[in-house]
Amino acid sequence: MINVCQEFNANESPKQAVQKHFNSINPESVSLDQLYHKLQKPIFYVVVDGEEIIALIRGTPDRINSLVVDGAYHRQGIGESLIKKFIATAQKSGSHKIKVRSSVYAVSFYQAMGFKRTTGQRTISGLRHYPMKIIL
Ligand SMILES: CC(C)(COP(=O)(O)OP(=O)(O)OC[C@H]1O[C@@H](n2cnc3c(N)ncnc32)[C@H](O)[C@@H]1OP(=O)(O)O)[C@@H](O)C(=O)NCCC(=O)NCCS
Repeated sequence: MINVCQEFNANESPKQAVQKHFNSINPESVSLDQLYHKLQKPIFYVVVDGEEIIALIRGTPDRINSLVVDGAYHRQGIGESLIKKFIATAQKSGSHKIKVRSSVYAVSFYQAMGFKRTTGQRTISGLRHYPMKIIL
């Protein structure tokens, strides 16, 4: 999954910030225990093909923290099905809106899913993104 971000998102922000982010989630430089504590969220779905994880979504009922689909599986409706599953779970938890800090690359995808940009481009820890929101 980390390779997907390198392929599609690495050129969106300054190199140093991207590298720092990748290092913080790279299983070769962080222990599995640390990764688990950093990445665990109450909503977490993965899609598998055989034994391989090819997509994931994670977050809380009112925020998507990550959504990644392996490049070989793009434009097959996997991202959309994960968003729908996430929204259904968020609604069951009583959430009335979901926010996301969309990668620059994913803005068109989120717009197609009904999300709207709430501000212009923002930067957190050097990483560029667009805040977006959907009202449920
Ligand atoms: C964004 C991402 C999750 C979309 O996943 P996906 O499985 O390819 O998306 P889907 O096939 O479900 O797309 C549904 C619709 O969204 C829109 N869409 C998806 N990718 C798009 C793109 N690259 N450009 C424009 N529109 C896009 C289309 O309307 C598409 O419907 P269509 O294929 O019938 O035209 C995937 O491209 C990805 O992992 N990107 C890299 C990581 C990333 O940026 N994640 C977001 C971090 S917040």
